[in-house]
Amino acid sequence: MCGIVGYVGPRVATPVLIEGLKRLEYRGYDSAGVAVMNGNGVETRKAVGKIAALESVVGDDPVEGMTGIAHTRWATHGAPNECNAHPHHDCTGTIAVVHNGIIENYGALRTMLQGHGHTFVSETDTEVLAHLIEAAFDGNLEEAVADSLHLVEGTYGIAVVSSQDPVKIVAARKGSPLLLGLGEGENFLASDVAAILKYTRDVVYLDDGELAVITADSYRVFDLQAVQREKKVSKIDWDLDMIEKGGFAHFMLKEIFEQPTTIENTMRGRLVTEEGFSKLGGINLSREELQNIDNVVITACGTSWHSALIGELLIEDLARIPVEVEYASEFRYRNPIITQRTLCVVISQSGETADTLAAMREAKRRGAKTLGLVNVVGSTIAREDDGGIYLHAGPEIGVASTKAFTSQVVALLLLTLKLARRRDMSAARGREIAQAMEHLPAQIREILDRAGEIEELAEQFKDASNFLYLGRGYNFPVALEGALKLKEISYIHAEGYPAAEMKHGPIALIDANMPVVFIAPHDAVFDKVVSNVQEVKARGGRVIALTSREEPTLKKLADYEFRIPETLDMLYPILAAIPLQLLAYYIAAKRGLNVDQPRNLAKSVTVE
Ligand code: G6P
Repeated sequence: MCGIVGYVGPRVATPVLIEGLKRLEYRGYDSAGVAVMNGNGVETRKAVGKIAALESVVGDDPVEGMTGIAHTRWATHGAPNECNAHPHHDCTGTIAVVHNGIIENYGALRTMLQGHGHTFVSETDTEVLAHLIEAAFDGNLEEAVADSLHLVEGTYGIAVVSSQDPVKIVAARKGSPLLLGLGEGENFLASDVAAILKYTRDVVYLDDGELAVITADSYRVFDLQAVQREKKVSKIDWDLDMIEKGGFAHFMLKEIFEQPTTIENTMRGRLVTEEGFSKLGGINLSREELQNIDNVVITACGTSWHSALIGELLIEDLARIPVEVEYASEFRYRNPIITQRTLCVVISQSGETADTLAAMREAKRRGAKTLGLVNVVGSTIAREDDGGIYLHAGPEIGVASTKAFTSQVVALLLLTLKLARRRDMSAARGREIAQAMEHLPAQIREILDRAGEIEELAEQFKDASNFLYLGRGYNFPVALEGALKLKEISYIHAEGYPAAEMKHGPIALIDANMPVVFIAPHDAVFDKVVSNVQEVKARGGRVIALTSREEPTLKKLADYEFRIPETLDMLYPILAAIPLQLLAYYIAAKRGLNVDQPRNLAKSVTVE
């Protein structure tokens, strides 16, 4: 995710800022920039790619000054290029802004500002902030920032400097973390304590709705109404490694715990609950094109292929359009039936998987419209598709995909709502689904609060050599994903199967040493799944059941039960995936394995 660093004090700011940015590199980013006040005005340097690239730009063309702000960008609006990199400026070039988060009403604000003669140079949502502050500026930067933020909808952590009100940095937070670092005769600002730990361990965390002004020897925190806030100074006693992982032992665990927020980010500004509809600005399909789709092909690899399987069920169930799901590696060498009325949905966290990219190019060559569901903005698939839905899940660093999976399913739900409402699905049905989707973040939190139960389960099963995962309907792909997670990071052999298909083969494997995970929420096929549980128990298998409600038959049969909250059938995959991710994680961690970088696997497979 994007990172922010700010410095005001007696040192030359640029090296401090760049050092801070380097400490944020682990979060993932695609471009970076600094703005420093040099006594005459604000000077900015930017570069695409690694911080080293920015360092060399600054080396060739130094900026000297003692107050500055810096940023690493992980693109959400606009490609990762120099122009879209932060800091952004107003028309006069005297104000510079860095921003984490998403300004939801940036389109309307941009049009309004353009109407007043402001000229925009980037495609970012952030640039509207610089122009809003310019419009509100009357000699005092913090007042201008506060006035501007009254107009803004969305999330932000921002840092602002102006050469017209120098030697201070103004910061504000709503939904994106920001903290002040307090030094002797110098002060710092950062989105993450890792950036400033080298200089100070005394920090003040900003809360949502707060603004701050820092100078070399003072800081002040207040709210949007200019009412002063008393803040506690916290002492940091973590080491750097712990901080980068947000206090979690591994990135994978951190990413699992981020899911209430990441799926909220996938839905943000897109779900129109009252109308049971979704707004998807980037799909580039007209109303006619949407209505005229004859068939959908979804192509992907790995975990993304599992979300594709859920997409197939969703689209066929609700939009009544025939769907085929294809492994990208197979699709590219088949002779598939594609017409100009085929919509090819391409799912990829990285947007760089070689097979998926090749499959998309093949579908395009055959005349299909392509739609990318991609997490990494500006990646090759995102650049080459005809339209897209970004996941907005933030960088995923653990090799085993977790938060990208749940965001992919949410993006597929948003797409399905769009397709289905353009066809026969009623507003009432759409509303029911959208309302249930809105509950998902809180329901995921409920599951995460009970992670300890899964950890205990992992202790029981950490020495198993095989695992079977069974589910039906919407939860068959979840069974596949649960098994994949376990084998990827724990090296335990695991298979996912449709629960009823088990009796045609895998049932031969069942004995007291074979744990069987049933994904059995109270959905349309619950009773059928319970019969399959009976088949396993009759052969002495050990059953772990994920279910959503107290039910005596299942309770009697299952050796272990874990409850997930109740939701609509089509949303269970999102909730059921979380305990399975945790189970895989805790088993691998207890086996002492390298969870974030399992052997033989790569985060992004850019070879065939
Ligand atoms: C690799 C990763 C998997 C991922 C797959 C597809 O195999 O290890 O976690 O699911 O690639 O990646 P993509 O970036 O296209 O979703």
